[in-house]
Amino acid sequence: MGFFITFEGPDGSGKSTQIALLAEHLAGQGLAVRLTREPGGTPISEQVRALLHDLRNREMSPRAEILLYSAARAQLVSQIIRPHLAAGGLVLSDRYADSTLAYQGFGHGLDLDILRLITAFATDHLRPDLTLLLDLEAQTGLRRRQQGGVEWNRLDAYDLAFHQRVRAGYLELAAAEPERWVVLDATLDRDTLQAAVRRLVAERLEARSQKSEAGSRVSTPLSEL
Ligand code: TMP
Repeated sequence: MGFFITFEGPDGSGKSTQIALLAEHLAGQGLAVRLTREPGGTPISEQVRALLHDLRNREMSPRAEILLYSAARAQLVSQIIRPHLAAGGLVLSDRYADSTLAYQGFGHGLDLDILRLITAFATDHLRPDLTLLLDLEAQTGLRRRQQGGVEWNRLDAYDLAFHQRVRAGYLELAAAEPERWVVLDATLDRDTLQAAVRRLVAERLEARSQKSEAGSRVSTPLSEL
């Protein structure tokens, strides 16, 4: 039984650290975990990532940007995510389609319905089972990235108002679909946050396996009819 978890959040929210710790923990429990990231995760998608993040590409239009993110995503979904889920594995992705809604939709003001349509096409309607939002004020996130010595990419270079719209967009998306999203405070220290993430994921995996057990109990007598 596959399970698909995504991590979202503003730049500098610590998602990459948290998702790596979670992947290690779940793999240690014997689960078939596949950790990936967007944009990227396959050789083709990583090439698209390099293009998207290159500071020399400042003239890239928001429409070109969305199509490139979607191309990278389409490749990742078909080459890695779907096959792993179909084999009953657990996929953890550092960003997924909600980043497009937050950054290109709320950030750049592109039409959300059109973005949803493009995204549905790129992913063939694959949606996460659970999305964790590591929420952080835009200013704090950008400061953390500048101080952290991490790669400063083309998107970090957008102004503060852009990143504030992204954050507000994320919170709106989370509020609209509370059964899929869980909002966590990214200012918590690393270990406290990781403990919360692990608890939450354990609960959801347990709920999922109970549901599938109940499903198989029901389907046995029916299949005997
Ligand atoms: P990250 O790997 O450091 O999270 O950087 C990825 C950047 O790409 C980040 O600034 C968010 C941005 N992004 C979008 O604008 N749209 C998307 O669909 C995705 C996946 C990422």
